[in-house]
Amino acid sequence: MTARIIDGKQIASDIRSELKQEVISLKQKGIIPGLGVILVGDDPASKSYVTAKERACEEIGLHSDDNRLPKGTSQAELITLIKKMNTDPKINGILVQLPLPKHINESDVLMAIDPVKDVDGFHPVNIGKMIIGEKSFLPCTPHGVIKLLERSGVKTEGAHVVVVGRSNIVGKPVANLLFQKKKNANATVTICHTGTKDLKSFTKQADIIIAAAGRPNTITADMVKDGVVIIDVGVNRIEDSTKKAGFRLVGDVDFEALKEKASLITPVPGGVGPMTITMLLYNTVESAKIANMIRD
Ligand code: GUN
Repeated sequence: MTARIIDGKQIASDIRSELKQEVISLKQKGIIPGLGVILVGDDPASKSYVTAKERACEEIGLHSDDNRLPKGTSQAELITLIKKMNTDPKINGILVQLPLPKHINESDVLMAIDPVKDVDGFHPVNIGKMIIGEKSFLPCTPHGVIKLLERSGVKTEGAHVVVVGRSNIVGKPVANLLFQKKKNANATVTICHTGTKDLKSFTKQADIIIAAAGRPNTITADMVKDGVVIIDVGVNRIEDSTKKAGFRLVGDVDFEALKEKASLITPVPGGVGPMTITMLLYNTVESAKIANMIRD
């Protein structure tokens, strides 16, 4: 079987066009949704993510407030800026790019963000609401995965999904979203991780695999059944002297081999990545609507 490639760029672009229309109609009501962006330090991958997020805001007409802080910024300074954004009516969403430098406690920083502006969906209040199935800001990458499956016509109801990875940003929330008793969910979910013995015995049973291990070649062709759906969340930099940047991006799965065995597969880049930013824009627009009491 040769897989259909899920075009994350196209799906993201479709959703961004829909959002752009929403932003136009909000502007007619005098509302411009705003995202406060904070980057501490100069990690090259984080810098490029943040630049892409700001560019995406601009493209759909959102206001973005760019704050690039030096590596030595103290936790107190960072929290002071967050508190200022919490009360700024022009800011509907606050994004603190992770990871933070080691001297800053990530959990304390995320807790400082007002949950009503937590468009990353990382605040414990929003995570708790998500787990009990209440409306909340959903974390962007997991939400993007759900949208990719939905818009690619993949039925999750009753499917066996194997999630590989248990991070707070991807593995844990995507597993939770997929077993909710809801539309585009209701799956049986197995979570595998570095402590799993015989990973292959689980992945072989999967109808859908969400690879979020953060390691290239975690899933190879011998580990899956024919016709599996593969969503590759991994973004790994591999040295490549033929590239101008000196590296190329690969996911967590052996894409070339798996595309001959899967029914559907996401590429890296161009799969899940564009969806993460898109769902951040979605949450920011939602937050502006909630702040202005606009209902769909
Ligand atoms: N670092 C890697 N992914 C993310 C994300 O989705 N949001 C934030 N804030 N930082 C990240």
